[in-house]
Parts: sequence; C-alpha cells; structure tokens
Amino acid sequence: MKKEVKIRPFWYSDIWLFPKLITVVTTLDAKGGINAAPYSHIMQYDVMAKNPRMIMGFRQDSHTFENICATKEFVINCPPADYVDDVMETARFYPEGVNELEHTRFTAIPSLKVKPPSLKECPQIAECVADEIVKLDKSSGIVIAKIVALVFDEGLEEMDRAARIRAMNLPVGLGDEARRDYFFATTENMTCHTLKETPQGYAAAGLKIELPWDDDAMQELMKVPPFVRTMVTRQVERYTQKKGDARVTAAHMTAAANDLGMDEALLARFRGKKD
Ligand SMILES: Cc1cc2nc3c(=O)[nH]c(=O)nc-3n(C[C@H](O)[C@H](O)[C@H](O)COP(=O)(O)O)c2cc1C
Repeated sequence: MKKEVKIRPFWYSDIWLFPKLITVVTTLDAKGGINAAPYSHIMQYDVMAKNPRMIMGFRQDSHTFENICATKEFVINCPPADYVDDVMETARFYPEGVNELEHTRFTAIPSLKVKPPSLKECPQIAECVADEIVKLDKSSGIVIAKIVALVFDEGLEEMDRAARIRAMNLPVGLGDEARRDYFFATTENMTCHTLKETPQGYAAAGLKIELPWDDDAMQELMKVPPFVRTMVTRQVERYTQKKGDARVTAAHMTAAANDLGMDEALLARFRGKKD
C-alpha cells in the first residue's frame, strides 16, 4: 500500500531521502576574510566540457551566499568521511567574520585559479566562478557557476573507479533530523552492477542475425568493437552451423572468436578499454 505524504517545510530533507554529496564551500568576504560551511544542494548543470557548470542552492542569508554574490568566486571541497566532525564544526552559526576553519583540522591552501582557499585534506575540489544568481522569492538563492578548475590529489586520476572510491572515502549525506542530527553513510560496502545489452542489442546496433543467440553469447558479441562485429557475427553463425547446431551459445562465440585470432587477451583489452 502507498500513502501520499503532506509536503511540509524542509520536505527535501525531512521526508524525501536524498543521498547527497558532502562539500565544504570556501569563500572570501568583502574584506578578504575566509568563510567555510557545508553544502549538499549541488549538482552538475552544464555537463559539456566546453562550459562545465555546477548548480547550487543556498539559504539567502548565509555568509556563503552573501560572499558569492559579492565576490562571485568559491571553492567546492569534498572531504573524506573521517573529516565529517570537522564538516559539522563549519556548520555552526558563527558570527560574520569568523574563519570556521580555525575550529577544524582543515588546512587552507591557495587555490589555482580563484582567490578563496582550497582545503588540503579534500581529495576532490572544484574552483568556481558564479555566472548566474537567482534569488527565489522567500526561498533559496540558486547559483549557477562555471568550474574554472577541477583539482584532485595526485594519483587519483590514474586509479580505476573502485580503487578511487576507496581512496577518496567520500561520505554520503542522508539528511538530518530537525537540523540537529545529521546522518551520513560511507562507501565501504559499495557494490558494482553491470549494465547489460538488451537481448535485442544486435537490433539497436543495426546487426543482422540469421540464427537465434543465447543471451550471454549476445552479451559477448556486443563487447566486440563495432567495426568488426558484422564480420564476427557471420563467422560465429557459420561456425555454429558447421557444428550442426541451430542456436549460438557462449561456447560457440568463444570458440569462433578464438578461431578468428580474437583470443581472451585481445577481447579483455576491448572490454577494459578506457576512453
Ligand atoms: C551536511 C550539511 C549540508 C548542508 N547543506 C546545505 C545546503 O545545501 N544549503 C544550505 O543553505 N545550507 C546547508 N547546510 C547548512 C549550512 O551549512 C549552515 O547554515 C551554515 O551555518 C551556513 O554557514 P555560512 O553562513 O557561513 O554560509 C548544510 C549543513 C550540513 C551540516
């Protein structure tokens, strides 16, 4: 049974579970003083590399939003899970002019392209310049900002995703109870699930088949690079018919691919190819 729930203030956090990125945003006030505070209302906006942009939402009277309106520049720092207490420290309602970082283990270091500092302990950082600010009526201040630099700890870019997820150890925000108790999860028990081709993947790929194929054989075929797929399809079907079989199985696929000189090592290279 389902039940409609009333949309109350803070619906996006109180009732709607919204696993979120945890960030500490650093800005400078008009006098050059550092401000830092946690923000999670953040998402990619323009995903194209020529104009990479983030969209963020702020309480309009927060120091961070006021600083961004005044100076346009800010830095999105993503801290590891073992710094969540320090993140919470920066969330306190300190008076204007207080550098929250002094109450944490975070170290301010110069950013590459903007004036507000970056945080040394954060493995993933985006330096941003606001280019659109929308003040919603009696609601959030929305900032759309150009990413002028994406900065990572040395070595992370070269890791595969599983190793990078472990090394970065980013916490996942799970909302709060009455703006007092904040919930977080860690990525220790991450899982990985493979997106498979549809059983009719060949049709979407414009391939013509003459025999029925087992699903796992078709999955294998779709891993073959497109420019040799038609040739491999024909060879595998011919091989299957030569064996007196009416249906292509994964075993036919492997044997025929080996016949074609496409051994496991070669196939593994296609499968593991990074773009
Ligand atoms: C984990 C976490 C995430 C938060 N995300 C947001 C957010 O996305 N938008 C927002 O307006 N406030 C958010 N807050 C609340 C602000 O961090 C808090 O109001 C802070 O005191 C603002 O500081 P500032 O005035 O120095 O900017 C969040 C707090 C926590 C602890």
